[in-house]
Amino acid sequence: MGFWKSLFSSSDAPPAPQAMQMEDDPSKAAGDRPSPRIFFSTEREIDLYELEELCDAVGWSRRPLRKVKKAIQHSFLVVSMWEQHGSHRRLIGFSRATSDHAFNATIWDVVVHPEFQSKGLGKALMKQVIKKLRSEDISNITLFADPQVVDFYRNLGFMSDPEGIKGMFWYPD
Ligand SMILES: CC(C)(COP(=O)(O)OP(=O)(O)OC[C@H]1O[C@@H](n2cnc3c(N)ncnc32)[C@H](O)[C@@H]1OP(=O)(O)O)[C@@H](O)C(=O)NCCC(=O)NCCS
Repeated sequence: MGFWKSLFSSSDAPPAPQAMQMEDDPSKAAGDRPSPRIFFSTEREIDLYELEELCDAVGWSRRPLRKVKKAIQHSFLVVSMWEQHGSHRRLIGFSRATSDHAFNATIWDVVVHPEFQSKGLGKALMKQVIKKLRSEDISNITLFADPQVVDFYRNLGFMSDPEGIKGMFWYPD
């Protein structure tokens, strides 16, 4: 709770992560408040170097930025998470989803900066993604979980191999 108090300075009873509103332009909402605040955004104008830094921070392998740019452009949904302090904002979380725009969506690249992990923000980020996909009437939401985060997703309601269905992969030789 102390952490949330420090971030959500405008209220005596700071909102739980689930209650945070998605802001398309975090800078508008933050105004001149001196304390850091956290916002979500669905804007796709992400500084690719900043995103690369975020992915580096969790030890992911680097990917060609032109491909990352293309992947973001062609994603159905991009949700980023920002810490705003005065006029400075910092990318602290990211996720995106691809979709057939009707039935299915797959979530990719879920990441929270290590300095901000274990504070409920990954869960809040995922809830924003799911909420947005549900608002588009997408009912089949899938993802590929690294082994060490299976329980993180399970906590959010994701099931492994429902009805015995197996994810299958094909890789070039
Ligand atoms: C996985 C990740 C997004 C979780 O973000 P986070 O902000 O640390 O998670 P939260 O604090 O919101 O945790 C929410 C809940 O999940 C649990 N949880 C978090 N990480 C977990 C993990 N690796 N395994 C099992 N449970 C986990 C928390 O204990 C918490 O449980 P609670 O609701 O009962 O208190 C973050 O650790 C991360 O970015 N990891 C590196 C990148 C990565 O592995 N991404 C996933 C690729 S598939």
